[in-house]
Amino acid sequence: MSKPKVFVTRIIPKQGIELLRRETDTEVWEDKIPPPYETLLAKVKKMEGLLCLLTDKIDANLIDEAGKPLKVISQMAVGFDNIDIAAATERGIPVGHTPGVLTDTTADFAFTLLMAAARRIVEGEHFVKKGLWITWDPTLLMGQDIHNATLGLIGFGRIGKGMAKRASGFNMRILCHDPWADMKAARKLNVEMGTMDEVLAEADFVSMHIPLMPETHHLISAHQFSLMKSTSILINTARGSVVDPDALYQALRSGDIAYAALDVTEPEPIQTDDPLLTLDNCMIVPHIASSSVATRTRMANMAVENMMAGLMGRKLPYCANPEVYD
Ligand code: DGY
Repeated sequence: MSKPKVFVTRIIPKQGIELLRRETDTEVWEDKIPPPYETLLAKVKKMEGLLCLLTDKIDANLIDEAGKPLKVISQMAVGFDNIDIAAATERGIPVGHTPGVLTDTTADFAFTLLMAAARRIVEGEHFVKKGLWITWDPTLLMGQDIHNATLGLIGFGRIGKGMAKRASGFNMRILCHDPWADMKAARKLNVEMGTMDEVLAEADFVSMHIPLMPETHHLISAHQFSLMKSTSILINTARGSVVDPDALYQALRSGDIAYAALDVTEPEPIQTDDPLLTLDNCMIVPHIASSSVATRTRMANMAVENMMAGLMGRKLPYCANPEVYD
C-alpha cells in the first residue's frame, strides 16, 4: 500500500522527521527561508498532510487548493494565528498544534529577557567588547532591581503562570490582567488581578502572554505606553503584533518607557532598516523563546503525532479546532 503524502514546510528536528519518513511519503522544503505562498500552493496539491510552521500563511485559498486529499494540517507551534482556523473547520480539516511542551522553556526565556534588560546585560557586553572598560566605576550601567519589583502580566495562560512562578522566587509582586484568568491558580501563585490600566500603571516590568487575535492586535499602543512608568520595561515573547511597533518606537525614544526586550516583532523578521534597531534601549532576538534542543524536539514529535493521528482518521491529540469533530 502506498504511504500517505506529507509536505513539511522546513527542516524540523531530526527525531520528528525520521518518525515521519518511516510512516509517510515525506517531502521536506529544505531551504532556510519558508516556501513562498505560490510555491506552497503548488506543493500542497495531492498532499494528505501538511506539516507547517508559524511562518506559513495557511488560508482558505490554500486549503481549497490542497482539495479533497488533504486530511490534516499540523503546525509545529502552540500559536496558530497564521492559519485560518474557521476555514479549516468549515472544510472538515483538523488542525494540530503543540501546547504545553514549550511552556517552561518559553517562560524561562521571558524571564531571561526580563533579567537581561533590567541588569543591562547587552549594553555591558557591548561596552566591554568596544574596549570601554577602563576601571570600576561607581555609576556604570546602573540597572533596576528585579527582587521586590512589580511584574505586570498581560495574560495568565500557561506561559503567564510560568512567569508568575519564576517571579515569586524573586519575591516580586505579581499583578495580572486577564478577564478569563484561572482564579484558583492566581490565588495559589499570589497573583493580584487588576484592570489593564492598573497593571500598566503599577508594573515595573510588563510581560505579554496573550495570543494574537483581532482583539489583541496592537493592544499595547500609544495610550497604553503613556500609562506606564517611565522606568518600566516591556517584555514580549507572545506575538509581535500585540504591540504597535510605531508607538513602541516613540515610547522608547521619548522616555515614556525605559526599555523593551522583544523575542517577537512586527513584521518578522524585522526589516534591517526598522527604526527600533537604531535604539540602544531595545533588545531584539529572533523568536527563539521556545528554542531549547529538548523543547524543539518535543514540538516536532508532537506535530508528527498529530499528523499521524490525522492521516489515520483518528482525533488529533492536540487539536486547535476540536469543533471540527462536532
Ligand atoms: C509558538 O509555538 O507559537 C512559539 O511562538 C514558537 O515556539
